[in-house]
Amino acid sequence: MCGIVGCVGEKQARNYLISGLHRLEYRGYDSAGIVTIGTDNKATLLRAKGKVSKLEELVSSIRRTAKPSTDKIGIGHTRWATHGEPSEKNAHPHKAGDIYLVHNGIIENYKELKAEIKNHKFITDTDTEVLAALIDSLYDQNTTLADAVNQALKLVAGTYGIAVISVRNPDEIVVARSGSPLIIGVGDNETYIASDASALIGFTDKAIYLNDGEMAICRGDSVELRDLSAQPISAKVETIEIDMQAIQKQGYEHFLLKEICEQPSTLRSTLSGRINVKDKVANLGGLNLTPAELRKIEHVVIVGCGTAYYAGLLGMYYLEQLVDDLTIDVVAASELRYRSFHLPKDTVALVISQSGETADTLACLREIKRRGIKTLGVVNVVGSTIAREVDGGVYVHAGPEISVASTKAFTSQVAALTIFGIQLAQAKGADLQSVSKYIEELAKLPDEIDKIVSKDKEKIAKIAKRYAKYEHALYFGRDTLYPVAMEGALKLKEISYIQAEGYAAGELKHGPIALIDDSFFEVALLIDNWLFDKSLSTLEEVNARGGHIFVITNSKKAIKAEEIIRINTKLDILAPVLINVVQQLFAYYVAVARGNDVDQPRNLAKSVTVE
Ligand code: M6R
Repeated sequence: MCGIVGCVGEKQARNYLISGLHRLEYRGYDSAGIVTIGTDNKATLLRAKGKVSKLEELVSSIRRTAKPSTDKIGIGHTRWATHGEPSEKNAHPHKAGDIYLVHNGIIENYKELKAEIKNHKFITDTDTEVLAALIDSLYDQNTTLADAVNQALKLVAGTYGIAVISVRNPDEIVVARSGSPLIIGVGDNETYIASDASALIGFTDKAIYLNDGEMAICRGDSVELRDLSAQPISAKVETIEIDMQAIQKQGYEHFLLKEICEQPSTLRSTLSGRINVKDKVANLGGLNLTPAELRKIEHVVIVGCGTAYYAGLLGMYYLEQLVDDLTIDVVAASELRYRSFHLPKDTVALVISQSGETADTLACLREIKRRGIKTLGVVNVVGSTIAREVDGGVYVHAGPEISVASTKAFTSQVAALTIFGIQLAQAKGADLQSVSKYIEELAKLPDEIDKIVSKDKEKIAKIAKRYAKYEHALYFGRDTLYPVAMEGALKLKEISYIQAEGYAAGELKHGPIALIDDSFFEVALLIDNWLFDKSLSTLEEVNARGGHIFVITNSKKAIKAEEIIRINTKLDILAPVLINVVQQLFAYYVAVARGNDVDQPRNLAKSVTVE
C-alpha cells in the first residue's frame, strides 16, 4: 500500500524516482510526488493528484523551464489514501521546516502528537505531516538527521516505512521501518530506496532488506544500519532475482491479461522439482519439518486475505480429501487476528500471501507464532516480510504479479497447498495409489490451462460483452466450486464494479434465490462428478425463476442456460482450477467492455499493508 522510492549518489535522482514510482504505482495511485535536492542545495518539491503520469508531466514541464542542476538526492511516493482525501495537498513528500518525508503506514497517535507540536502550521489532513513536524521539532543544531528521526520514532505508535531528507544534510537519506517494507538497493556510488524490489530492477540487483525496528543512513557510497536504540547492525546484501521481462506487459494490453495467460508457465515454476509423476511423490523442500514432525500434525489452520483466503478454502477441500484424521480451519486473517481463537498443540499454520506484506496476514502470523505454533508460508514475493518471519514454507514462484487483481498467484497457491496435502498424506503413510491421481493431475494442469488461454479467449470475450450491462451477479457452485464461486465473484466485483456474490449452490434456496430477477445474471459452476445432478437441480431452480445463467463446466451433458463454456479436459480433481481460469478471463473481458481501468481498479491497491 503506497510506494516509496529514494536515491542518493552521482546520477540524476529524478530518473530513478519517476521510473521507480511507475513500477510501484500498483501499490497506490491516487497521488504522487517527489522532492529532489540539487547541487545548488535547493529543494524542488513536485506533487500531483492522480497517477504517476500526471507527476511525470509536471516534472517534464519543470525541466523545460528550469536551469539545469543535478539532483544528487531525492525521495518519492505514490499514495493510497488513508488519512485525508486524495489531493495534491495531501500527497507526499510532506514538508516541515527543513524536513521532507515520505511514509507508508499509519501513525496511530498522530492526534496526540499533533497537539504537542507548537512550532508548525499544519496544512494537510495527514498523519504523515505530523511525523514530519515531529522530526523537524527534534532536529536542532546539536542533532543529526538520523538522531532526530530516531528520537521521533520512539514517540510514534503505528506502522511505518519512511524515507527522510533535509536540505541541511543533503547527502543522506534516513530510512526506517516498522510494519511497512523497505529495501535499500546498493549500486555503484549510488544508493536506492524502494518499498518493493521491482522498482530496483535495471538499477541494481543488490539489496538490503530492512527488518522491523531497523533504520539506515544511506549515502551514495555507504549504508549504515542501526536499531532504534542506535546500536549498529551488520547489513546482509542479497541478490534480487527478478528479470526486466517479468515486470513488463510483453505485448499484452493489460498486465491482468498477461498474468492470466502466463499461468501455464508460472504454474510450471511452482511445480518444478516438487512433484515426481513416475515415483508418485511430492515434496516441498523448505518446510523445515522432519517426516516425524509432519506425521504428528493433527490440525491445520490456514490464513490469508481476499484471493489468498479463497485459495486456502479450495486447498482445504484437497487437504481433507488427501489426509485422513486431519482437521482444518480456514480463516480470513483480518478476522482471526482479533478472535480469542484456540489452536490444538499439534497444529501447523499455513500463511498464504502473494505479496508477503499484507498487514492482517502478517499480524496473524505473529500472533500464531507467539502461541508457539509452527508457521509455514505460501508466499510469492521472495524476501517479503511474511516469507522471512515464517518458520518454513514455500515460495510459489509465480513471478511478479503487477495487476491489482490477483490471478496467477491463486493458481500457484492452490497447487502448493495440494502438494503440501500429498506430502502430508505420504508422511502419514498414505499408499502411493491414493495420491497418484493428484500428482498426475498437477503435472497436466499447466497444459490444460494453456488450452483455455490459447483457444477460448475470443469465445469468453463474446459472452462477457453480453453480461457487461448488468449491475448484479450471483456465482454459485458446490463443494470445491464454492470457494471458486467466491473467487469468481471477487474478481468480477473488483475490476468491473458489478456487485457480485459467490454462494454455495445448496444455500441458494435458503435466501439468495429471492434476488433473482432480470437485473441479475448468474454464473453457475458445475463439474461432472458425483454432485453433478444436485448442482443441475439448483440450476433448474434458478432457470425456473427466469435466471440469466452463464454456465462454466467440464461436462458434456445437456444443461439449460443462456451461455455455456465447456472446458475440454480429462482433469477431474483439479477441474475447479480450470473453471477459475475461465472466470478470470470472463471478469477481465467484462471490465474491458465496461471501459474500466483493469490493472488499477478504483479504490484498491495491490498490497494492503494497513489494517
Ligand atoms: O498479497 P496478498 O495475497 O496477501 O493479498 C491478499 C489480498 O489483499 C488480495 O488477494 C486481494 O484480495 C486482491 N485484490 C484480490 O484480487
